[in-house]
Amino acid sequence: MALHFDTSVRNSRILSVGAYRPARVVPNSEIVDRIESSDEWIRQRTGIETRHIASADESLIDMAEAAATIALRRAGITMEQVSAVIFATITYPYQAPSAATELIVRLGNPKAAAFDISAACAGFCYGVALANDLVRAKTAEYVLVIGGEKLSDFTNPDDRATAFIFADGAGAVVIGPSDEPRIGPTMWGASAESRDAILMHPSWLDYKKADTRESAAWPDIAQQGQTVFRWAVYEMAPIGLKAIAAAGLQPEDLAAFIPHQANERIIDSLARSMKLPESVQIARDIRTTGNTSAASVPLAMDALLSSQPELHGKNALLIGFGAGLVYAGQVVELPPLPTK
Ligand code: UT7
Repeated sequence: MALHFDTSVRNSRILSVGAYRPARVVPNSEIVDRIESSDEWIRQRTGIETRHIASADESLIDMAEAAATIALRRAGITMEQVSAVIFATITYPYQAPSAATELIVRLGNPKAAAFDISAACAGFCYGVALANDLVRAKTAEYVLVIGGEKLSDFTNPDDRATAFIFADGAGAVVIGPSDEPRIGPTMWGASAESRDAILMHPSWLDYKKADTRESAAWPDIAQQGQTVFRWAVYEMAPIGLKAIAAAGLQPEDLAAFIPHQANERIIDSLARSMKLPESVQIARDIRTTGNTSAASVPLAMDALLSSQPELHGKNALLIGFGAGLVYAGQVVELPPLPTK
């Protein structure tokens, strides 16, 4: 027998963004000696000049709470009004319970629906896709989407392939109902035949005994840089173009391009391949933030809006891609200029 309930849908939008970067700024010069590298090599090959690294007593949840608090204030929404929290991360050190449940306790609404998603550097864009559909289908009124990482806990400072790339931070958006469609359809998928290209092996028995990285064998992130680089450069531009077309737009209708901040050469290559016009502002937060995986897109969004407030309310293409290998991209209207 068919069920009887309201099956109509509504529109949704990003109401606000908030960001948190740890206070400690680490320049390339602090990293290069342990990995036989140089400031020049890191700048030329990645664009990174400095990154933020959390202190030992600053947790992933501390960073997420700070970013979420700003996003809620800017949206003019209280935590009681949030019906679901989606936390994209690969660096919460517990398999269960989720980072999202720790966060809702901190934020004072332990009754909200809460879950994590493991989609690495694509996690935030996966979260936007899910939140959009939850609001559209009226499963939730306001959804808080967090991308947060403390990658310094999971990166070997002696690994020449990763030590210079990864960093820490958290970004958050509030997604809620809208009069018009302001989040476009998500183009997503995977190239899971290459799922070994980025790995983080958990070692639970060792972790249980450990309080810090130093005291036991924590899992470390490992990456086949060139494999991921080629995949991103060749596969992500068509996904971006599909996301633009799915939103009913042309590249010249965009005001901004905010891709995952993995490598500035990847960012430039994607913009060239998609033939984005000069008028499209490109997020280059990687220079001072490094690669913060799930946090990178909301951090880059916040940085771009801070430096160019005229982009508030304009359309931006977001693309996340990473371990899996998984990806997701969508066009969104950037949140309005906050009044609080
Ligand atoms: O966020 C998740 C998604 N991740 C990504 O999208 C990352 C994609 N990959 C990359 O960004 C790049 O592959 C890296 C930045 C990780 C590496 O850059 P690359 O241009 O692919 O370097 P490579 O591994 O091809 O090495 C090129 C050269 C080699 O020297 P020779 O053989 O040309 O003499 C390496 O030995 O650079 C050397 N090299 C280094 N030199 C100084 C490799 N790593 C380093 C290093 N410092 N850390």
